[in-house]
Amino acid sequence: APQFEVGSDGFLYCEEVRVKDIQDALGPEASPFYLYSQSRIEANVRAYQEALAGMDAIIGYAVKANNNLMIMQLVRERGCGAVLVSGNELRLARLAGFDMRRTVFNGNGKTPQEIALAVRAECLINVDSEFDLENILAAAKREGRKARVLLRINPDIDPQVHPYVSTGLATSKFGIRTDQLRWFLDRIRQNEAQVELVGVHSHLGSTIKKVELFHDNVVTMLQVIDEISARGFHSIRFLNIGGGLGIDYERKGERIPTPQELIDAIRPCLAGRDLTLIIEPGRSLIGNAGILVCRVIGVKRNGDKRFIVVDGSMAELIRPALYGAYQLITLTEPGVAGEQMATYDIVGPVCESSDFLGKARVLPLPAPGTGLAVMDSGAYCMSMASNYNMKVLPGELMVQGNRWRIIRQRQRFADLLSGYRDLVALPDDDL
Ligand code: LLP
Repeated sequence: APQFEVGSDGFLYCEEVRVKDIQDALGPEASPFYLYSQSRIEANVRAYQEALAGMDAIIGYAVKANNNLMIMQLVRERGCGAVLVSGNELRLARLAGFDMRRTVFNGNGKTPQEIALAVRAECLINVDSEFDLENILAAAKREGRKARVLLRINPDIDPQVHPYVSTGLATSKFGIRTDQLRWFLDRIRQNEAQVELVGVHSHLGSTIKKVELFHDNVVTMLQVIDEISARGFHSIRFLNIGGGLGIDYERKGERIPTPQELIDAIRPCLAGRDLTLIIEPGRSLIGNAGILVCRVIGVKRNGDKRFIVVDGSMAELIRPALYGAYQLITLTEPGVAGEQMATYDIVGPVCESSDFLGKARVLPLPAPGTGLAVMDSGAYCMSMASNYNMKVLPGELMVQGNRWRIIRQRQRFADLLSGYRDLVALPDDDL
């Protein structure tokens, strides 16, 4: 059953809870906030687990999609590993209790300090470039430990998505081209005390809607593995195919492949291979499990254009402004009785014309104070939020059945001043 649905009473529900009831309980001060469905997250994890049944595999939750500590703990308890892209994500994953030996530390610009952390924590480390390998060798030497590394291959496959979320093309900044493979293998062989080559990795991009692309990627990567073993390396145990599966943002019934379809498309290629598959989903684990809940400040009209102005903005949710991304928008309660539907741009209070959450949306006329929800905001929304215009990071809440709880407090004015502590006299509390 869908966990977010407008009921026959015209109210939006998250599982068994009326979203409007939470808004009323928290009051306008706490708006906007993120709201997640625990059973949706659990079902999304289960979908991958069922798809991978019988295979030796690690589901590496891409923490960048949503780094809420309680959500990280939840997916960890349900059996996921973690995929990390910064030292602080690594620290947070440790706090969330992940088995660090089952985490992957990724990134094209890891600092020597971050690499040292990853070596000490015994993460699997992706090698992205010549300098990256040199930094890993140096860190392993300093730490007196052997680093387990995967080579991040740039497979030059077009994922057919927005250029900003495309990563596996020849022109992308990520990964190494196969014509450079020999240099990396030589360098690794010369430094076998510092580094063990245990796998290959490749991530095509995000919001992918075609499983054939994953299949092509696996075929390419198996060729790379064969080339590596032909050069005398027999230590490859991990095939990491990245993340990237899209979700149905349009909510018009478009057929987006399921995890089952993704895995079915690659499973035959892996038969007879003694490999542990690593998959790194972010969006498809958490994207449809969260919404941003806002309040309508007012409705205005400029000539023929109508705007619904809400308290949420590009500061809390930047995907529309950054990628022109579409996320469905719905009121959390009925509109003004007797009024017609009309076409509105949904905009926030931030001083930028790119500050919109949705354009040309047909909605009922909302009264001021009406609740409005941006759907499918579980991935890359809170984790990309900013303090622009001194807006605070919103709070996060989790629904489980008929109950809800806060899983992160919203920031306060005082939090925005923490960088000035010891530099200037600060007020004790919120002004
Ligand atoms: N693995 C690697 C190496 C990645 O770079 C990413 C995402 C993932 C896994 C997870 O991909 P997913 O399954 O979530 O598609 N901010 C953009 C998305 C950026 C994705 C960056 N890399 C957005 O809001 O659409």
